[in-house]
Amino acid sequence: MRTNLPFNHDWLFIAADVGDETPDSAFESVILPHTNKLFPHHNFDNLEYQFISTYRKRFKLPEPRAGRRIFLDFDAAMIACEVFLNGVKVGEHEGGYTPFSCDLTDYLDEKGENRLVVRLDSRERADIPPFGFVVDYLTFGGIYRDVRLRYVEPLHITNLCVRTANVLAPTADVTLLVTVQNQSPQTQTFTVEASISDTTSDSKQAIPVPGAVTLNPLEETTLTLTETWDRPALWSIDDPHLYRAEVVLRSGAGSSQIDRVDTRFGFREAEFRKDGRFYLNGQPLKLIGLNRHQTYPYFGAAAPARLQRKDAEIIKHELGCNIVRTSHYPQATSFLDHCDQIGLLVFEEIPGWQHIGDRDWQGITLRDVEAMILRDRNHPSIIIWGVRINESQDDEALYRATNDLAHKLDPTRPTGGVRYFLDSQFLEDVFTYNDFSNTIVEPKYVPHLVTEFSGHMFPTKSFDQEERLIEHALRHARIQDKQLGMSNVAGAIGWCAFDYNTHKEFGSGDRICYHGVMDIWRLPKYAAYLYSSQISPSVRPVLQAATIWSMGDRSAGGNDPLVVFSNCDEIDVFIGNDLFGRFQPDRESFPNLPHPPFQVNGLAIFSTWGRRLVDLRVVGYLDGQGVIEQHIESSPIPSALELRPDDAVLDADGMDMTRLVFRIVDRYGNRLPFATQVVSFEIDGPADLIGENPFALVGGQAALYVRARCQPGTVTVRARTPRLPEAVATIELR
Ligand code: GAL
Repeated sequence: MRTNLPFNHDWLFIAADVGDETPDSAFESVILPHTNKLFPHHNFDNLEYQFISTYRKRFKLPEPRAGRRIFLDFDAAMIACEVFLNGVKVGEHEGGYTPFSCDLTDYLDEKGENRLVVRLDSRERADIPPFGFVVDYLTFGGIYRDVRLRYVEPLHITNLCVRTANVLAPTADVTLLVTVQNQSPQTQTFTVEASISDTTSDSKQAIPVPGAVTLNPLEETTLTLTETWDRPALWSIDDPHLYRAEVVLRSGAGSSQIDRVDTRFGFREAEFRKDGRFYLNGQPLKLIGLNRHQTYPYFGAAAPARLQRKDAEIIKHELGCNIVRTSHYPQATSFLDHCDQIGLLVFEEIPGWQHIGDRDWQGITLRDVEAMILRDRNHPSIIIWGVRINESQDDEALYRATNDLAHKLDPTRPTGGVRYFLDSQFLEDVFTYNDFSNTIVEPKYVPHLVTEFSGHMFPTKSFDQEERLIEHALRHARIQDKQLGMSNVAGAIGWCAFDYNTHKEFGSGDRICYHGVMDIWRLPKYAAYLYSSQISPSVRPVLQAATIWSMGDRSAGGNDPLVVFSNCDEIDVFIGNDLFGRFQPDRESFPNLPHPPFQVNGLAIFSTWGRRLVDLRVVGYLDGQGVIEQHIESSPIPSALELRPDDAVLDADGMDMTRLVFRIVDRYGNRLPFATQVVSFEIDGPADLIGENPFALVGGQAALYVRARCQPGTVTVRARTPRLPEAVATIELR
């Protein structure tokens, strides 16, 4: 039978290319996911993670081999590695974003100790995508995703693919493609059992299977099993219903089980039609989303599953997006699983950025297309494959090949290929276009999906002057409004969700591109509220005044006009105790947004240079009822240091992490963006703080991360800053 064991613990790491003579004592003990270097959140050089490192792991087989083959499965390692077992090279891989496996079987010591060595090259190698020229993001080094040890019988399943069709008909079709390989030197005969089940109920259905199948030594076959399912519950963004397919192999005699594999899938129809629209389950749906880089402050891309899930939650539930683009590479399986779970659509693409390398380099690109699709084609959330190097020039031979391969591996999904020029050879199914015109250009081809806008056209920091932060938000508002009104545009995915670390050729010189609607810690700028204010008020009311309500931050002073992002029907604006007026969303400027921003003019008489300033209060109404309000002090003296972990409970597994947000706020809980004072932290209990300590606040807010150790217990974090009471947070490790 198959066993899949996590293999993240008890690794040794050294930031050098060393041989076997180097003693274990020279290494440091680490747990995966691991980054080869920790950084401050900005102002560091990418050369600092570019080196060859050595990972070593000594292990005894956790369970007897019992005639099985044993593989080591890497979810990813940045960027090229060679793997050795007991001195023998058992595998190598080039490329930092796709999974790979090494067959350890023939070199294992089944009884004694084994020595596993990974020589990892984290240099920006011109022979591997995305490198060869400049790249606007960082590829932090390390074995930064999970590793597992997998035992399988010599005859085993190597891939299970689920396809659905006619999902809107009374009876939907399901096809399972089961690839079975015989790695034994003998001919093997087996039978298959297959079923599909609803993950939320007991309903389960067997799938008809062929009789006994015989496979010659080293032969592989793919069985096609088909069945129907009556009126499946559809996967949708509001109700992401999931099913499970399971396949069991039994040996020739038909009795003993030799393998079992399962996967989740969904019944949904996702189509970009020739009328230019995107349809989910037959209904037109305008795509509104943001791009996500997988990197975090301090620890690069080595984020455990909880943080991956949190990013999906932020994009879907905090920002209210319906789609994310995994710019510019396949992202963690845990991220995609969560997109399936919560109903967030995904545009996934291959690694690359503008540059196309030589034939060998392109060979890796084709391999990446294959690896991405074989890994991810069962995710109902994924609606399109990006099969061009982001923003590269046309290359007919390469892009015919990537498109053909994608269509062969997955005839159910369209391809896209992201470019920034309209006069481009259209080899894909959807014309996916980075539109930096500050509006939405008239499509040349349909279907047309905008895959980036804004970004470097208007970099904005969370501590920029208020006028800039407002304009940043309004640019997102204008562009999303425009695309919503164009029936020949399927949607728009803005650049980008979160600020990210980058090379010196990009960003603000401190190695950050301040292009996010949220900062690098995923904390909101005003533009974030443009997105969250599009959430239906039946989910939750949203109201954020885009102002710090100071007299002299804007050019020439004052606060006119006042912009408020809200999904309320109306707002009341109070200046001090006096009602200034009741206002409606600005539908004239934004006819297409479900919830346009409110733009309140005429405040100059209350808030101009040389007048007395009093508090601002904004109250939001739904159906005539006051449901939400914000009060902003006219005298915003820091009144509290807030310290909030995202999670109260972590797993005591040595890898689990949560974000610990700290902010300096006024009496009403509004962040004070120019509170840049130093905050210092103390942690007590079986966990570590990851990040700068002490920390000089940025925009009045920032975050550290808490990483669990392997013992359960209570963790207490204390934060201190001059003139404010200490803040305390506790987290349980279980
Ligand atoms: C695009 C590119 C993105 C990012 C963005 C900044 O050209 O595809 O990766 O660099 O510009 O606006």
